[in-house]
Amino acid sequence: MLDVATGTGLLAADFASVISHDGFVVGVDLTLSMLKTARWRLRARNVGDRVDWVLARAENLPFRDDSFGSASISLALRNVSSAQMTFREMSRATVPGGVVISLDFARPHSRLFQVFYYDYLLGLFPFFGRMVSEAWGKTLSYLGRSILRARTGEQIANLLREEGLVDAVSVPLTAGIVCAVYGIKR
Ligand SMILES: C[S@@+](CC[C@H](N)C(=O)[O-])C[C@H]1O[C@@H](n2cnc3c(N)ncnc32)[C@H](O)[C@@H]1O
Repeated sequence: MLDVATGTGLLAADFASVISHDGFVVGVDLTLSMLKTARWRLRARNVGDRVDWVLARAENLPFRDDSFGSASISLALRNVSSAQMTFREMSRATVPGGVVISLDFARPHSRLFQVFYYDYLLGLFPFFGRMVSEAWGKTLSYLGRSILRARTGEQIANLLREEGLVDAVSVPLTAGIVCAVYGIKR
């Protein structure tokens, strides 16, 4: 299993916990400090021997074609310089029949919920951050604005289709504030 832009390895840890005995997880990120924290976290959870870490860019993965059973990216499609190149690389590195999956924030469909949620994202969310520190206030303010600009699940599914993945579907979760999108490599 390949986890791209793995950050501190939250998803990689879950994969490592459920993967079969002969399975293995590789977490990729371009930030060394993130990978160091990820390594520490997975060792603490006793799954460190099922994971390896690679410092690399999502848009240019240093792996051979068809080397992973499936590939994931979570909460990072808004961060990479090219979502298209990222999916192209994830698809290239995945075996035929494997799944390429993106999990990210999205915008809810309900107009009523949007009113409360957008107010929360742009107002309360950074306010809570500022209660911790000015830097957290700025981080959460950026995050809120970035979520409002995020691609919809259908736009992400179209990107997967453009990269040749089939049966691409988007699945809204938690009233649509998160969306899982996946497609299968032919
Ligand atoms: C918000 S974190 C998400 C981490 C993790 N996937 C999660 O769900 O908790 C975004 C991560 O993407 C990484 N990142 C951003 N651009 C990247 C790129 N082009 N290639 C690889 N990693 C990247 C950052 O270093 C950061 O660790």
